[in-house]
Order: sequence, then C-alpha cells, then structure tokens
Amino acid sequence: MRVSSCVRGRMEVFSGTAHPELAREIADLIGLPLGSLNVSRFPDGEVHVSIGTSVRGRDVFVVQPTCPPVNENFAELLIILDALYRASAGRITAVIPYYGYARQDKKTAGREPITARMVADMLSVGGANRVLAVDLHSPQIQGFFDIPVDHLTAVGVLGERLRGAELRDAVIVAPDAGRVNMATEYANRLGLPVVIIHKRRTGPEQTAVAHVVGEVRGRRPIIIDDMITTGSTVNRSVEALLREGAAPEIYVVVTHPVLVGKALERLSNPAIAKVVVTNTIPVGPEKRIGKMDVVSVAPLIADAIARIHSDSSVSDLFAQAA
Ligand code: R5P
Repeated sequence: MRVSSCVRGRMEVFSGTAHPELAREIADLIGLPLGSLNVSRFPDGEVHVSIGTSVRGRDVFVVQPTCPPVNENFAELLIILDALYRASAGRITAVIPYYGYARQDKKTAGREPITARMVADMLSVGGANRVLAVDLHSPQIQGFFDIPVDHLTAVGVLGERLRGAELRDAVIVAPDAGRVNMATEYANRLGLPVVIIHKRRTGPEQTAVAHVVGEVRGRRPIIIDDMITTGSTVNRSVEALLREGAAPEIYVVVTHPVLVGKALERLSNPAIAKVVVTNTIPVGPEKRIGKMDVVSVAPLIADAIARIHSDSSVSDLFAQAA
C-alpha cells in the first residue's frame, strides 16, 4: 500500500471512461463538478491519463466500475490512481460500483489463480487508500484488502422499487446456495418467504439439475442475484420454477447487469414479466429491453462518499447480504 500524506482537504470526484454518466450523477448529487481528467490512448493502445487541476492534499474519489471491457477498465483505473498518487492527493478512494474478477475469489482446482485477491493487491499498490464497492460477489473479498473497504448494498434501493409491484403470493428465490443471505435480506424487507434453487449432479457425467427447495406452486417468483452475466443462471431457475408450477409472471431483480452472450435473449422469455437492475454498469440502449427497469445507485454512492468525506458512519449503508 502506498502511504498518502493523510492531509484531507476539499473533496474531488473524478471519472474514468467506464461509466461517466454514473459519475456525473454522483457528482451532481454531491453538488460538485466532475474533476478535470483526460484519458487517451497511444496508437498502440496504451492508456495515458492527465489530471487537469491540482489535487494536492485533496480527498479524491475515482468512479470506475471494472465492467466489460474488464481489463481495459481495470488498467485505466490503476493508471488514474497512479496519476493521483503522484500528484500528491491527500486520500484516494477507488469507487468501484461493480468489482470485476470477483467470482475468482477462490481456487476451485489446482493451479488456478485467486484473481479477486490479486486485483485487490494491485488497487492498493496502485495508490488506493480506500475502496467503495456495491454488492461484491462474496463479502469475504473485503478481507483481500489491507485498506478499508466500504461495502454497500443495492438491496435497499431495489427492494424499494419492488414495493410498487404486486407482491401478493410472491416468493423470493435464491438461484443458488451462495445467494441465500441476499435473498433473506430481500425477504425480510418485503415480508416474503424464501425459496432456494439447489443444483445437484446425479452422476459425474451428468449435467447439474436444478431442484426447487420450498413451495412455489401458483406463486409469483422474484429471482434475485448479484449479477446477470450470460443469463444462464436465471434461465435454469425459470425452467425449474415453471416445472414446479410457479406462475409465469417472474421478476428478475439483480444488482449488476453485465449482460453478455445470450443474456438478453434469455431475459426475453415471456415467463419473465419484469427485470429490475441497477446502473452499477452502464445499460446502453443496446442492452435495454421493454420490461427492464434500471434503478440508480447514484444516491446511495453519493451518500456514502459524503459520509466518508465527513468522517460520519457509513454502516447503515453496508451490505448485510451477498
Ligand atoms: C454466481 O455465483 C453468480 O452469483 C451469478 O449467479 C452468476 O454469475 C450469473 O452468471 P450467468 O448469468 O452467466 O449465469
């Protein structure tokens, strides 16, 4: 970890190129213009960063989700951190609404990396003094850092959006065992029961079969998850729920809309009535489908940044789930 001067002056919010709309929304809510930062590419693709104003002694926040193109966005974040460090920022917080590589948080076979840990090390070495993240794939990733991590959850904002929906006969569905805590958090907020999809292989050569643990017959499922990548988890869950007699009016409620490969095609399944996601990752027009509702996490992040800057407690905003 690089040691900053620990002098905390005025706040500055900068944006990388991954998600300037979110950064602007955050800065507007705080009541600041975005800091002047130029990111360009050399002809060979190398990233060049220049900061337009002095950050000496400032309390700096850099907004950059490490969403696809993951490696480009991650490299850019590291280079911005280095530029800020060398410009003598007082404290640097990497605001990473979506933390890429989070699923590689353990070895599942011999000779594999633990990339989520390596990413954490690189952020500290790059110059981050703190990290602010939303719904990490597993909360244990916080322990990969030797610097403070403020781990926010979008369950509150997504849960609020669901309040307007018809929740009679609804049931919260954890699409795998890893999402049971998050499902419980939604269920507690909305006063609904939890059902779990359990994946089981019937033999070493067999594909995993999804079993529904809990009663869903005639009920409206709300499948929750931290991310939709290819939509295969959602697809498998929808099939299992319909097989068990669930109503074909399924909600999919997910924090990070990575949406690659067949994701949009899978979400177009008519049994899915609504898809509710956040904007931790940009959701451009090419990713929008009619039944998609995008809820902004900007107020949550702006609130956290304001509290961090003023040394107030952030724990009300922390993830109890994941
Ligand atoms: C898995 O553990 C995660 O929580 C998500 O369920 C998974 O990453 C979603 O990916 P996909 O949409 O490709 O199934």
